[in-house]
Amino acid sequence: MLRLCFCCVFFFIFLPNNVKLLDNGLARTPPMGWMSWGYYMCGDHCEELPEKCLDEKLILSVVDAFYNEGYQEAGFEYIIIDDCWSERKRDENGRLVADKKRFPRGMKFIADYIHARGLKFGMYTNIATVTCMQYPGSFGHFRTDAKTFADWGVDYLKVDGCFVGEDVLNNAYIKLGSQLNDTGRPMVYSCSWPYYIQYIHSKVPDFEAISQHCNMWRNYHDVQLYWPALKMIFKHFEDEYEELSRHHGPGKWNDPDMLIFGTDTLTESQSRVQIAVYVMLSAPLLLSCDMTKITAYEKKLLQNLDLMAVGQDPLGVMARPHKLQESVTLWVKRHLPMKGNKFHSYSFAIVNVDSQPHLIYFFPKIYGTDSKDGYTVMDIFSRDFIKNVTFHEPIEVTVPPDDVIMYTFFPL
Ligand code: GLA
Repeated sequence: MLRLCFCCVFFFIFLPNNVKLLDNGLARTPPMGWMSWGYYMCGDHCEELPEKCLDEKLILSVVDAFYNEGYQEAGFEYIIIDDCWSERKRDENGRLVADKKRFPRGMKFIADYIHARGLKFGMYTNIATVTCMQYPGSFGHFRTDAKTFADWGVDYLKVDGCFVGEDVLNNAYIKLGSQLNDTGRPMVYSCSWPYYIQYIHSKVPDFEAISQHCNMWRNYHDVQLYWPALKMIFKHFEDEYEELSRHHGPGKWNDPDMLIFGTDTLTESQSRVQIAVYVMLSAPLLLSCDMTKITAYEKKLLQNLDLMAVGQDPLGVMARPHKLQESVTLWVKRHLPMKGNKFHSYSFAIVNVDSQPHLIYFFPKIYGTDSKDGYTVMDIFSRDFIKNVTFHEPIEVTVPPDDVIMYTFFPL
């Protein structure tokens, strides 16, 4: 016992600064919100492309849509400005400055507008000296920038990883995270660290370290506005399930990148698939679109509280994929509510990414629904309780092309 205590004292006295862990208490469920990049991209050519302009008007329009149109009640909370928001030069004190034309009242004004409506504000920087789009980056300015973001009232910071080597990635994310902590303002820390390690430097990310220092992190390539890009993201999470799921849970999330709703890209069934896979993964749900372009059907999905409850389940389990056929994956997620302290609820999402329908037959029991009292089954998209089942009944369904059937089993 005494020896153990000596060890503790030694550990705390000699704990080097750069291994201070992120412990901000944030993102206990996967963050939900909106981020500019997916649809608006850089958005800095406002005269030539006014419909893709990243400016104050756009951000306030998203805030108003969240506040007035039911998104906030469904859990959408963070409004995040991605790359290309700043002036090309820092001010005379070395501080970042918001683009004076596009954000004439500055970022504090936007933060106040967001906070007044009970929502949260996110911003972006890069770990190198410039951002991916060549705007000023944070390298060499971690302390100043952390303070600037805190002073502005930022609640979430996305930190990209362009243009630096592996060593910088592995050290700088930790250093910047500790500067964010030192501001005393809790900010969700979203890192792109593993993406760059794996896909730019062809190395294996240290997810143990990443998950100790970041609240969420990008795993894979940027989502594109076309359906095959989504299929590749799903495949990545299927292929890497064992490793990714180990480091995933409250406060630390793998991030498959944005939803592409509201961009006229997906059919209704494809939009069902994207949202189903994301909630099953317990992934962050970040929209990126003109909020007025979200279709009535997409809005219904985004405001389907049974679906959102699966995504926001406090256990934060990443669904396990089971390949039932070449193009059919059954995702299984254990979640709350529980019956007593033994039997969980389970969601089953049967995803077919083929252009043909597939008939599927399986026994839910072998994936965990083994309560002898049986289950009541909800179809998550229609939101109907469709039947009660005993624990050994099979499920037989035909899943249409590019579609998903999603059932939740609640223990009786
Ligand atoms: C990278 C990121 C994107 C976006 C852009 C901005 O590509 O992965 O999400 O932030 O940079 O330049």
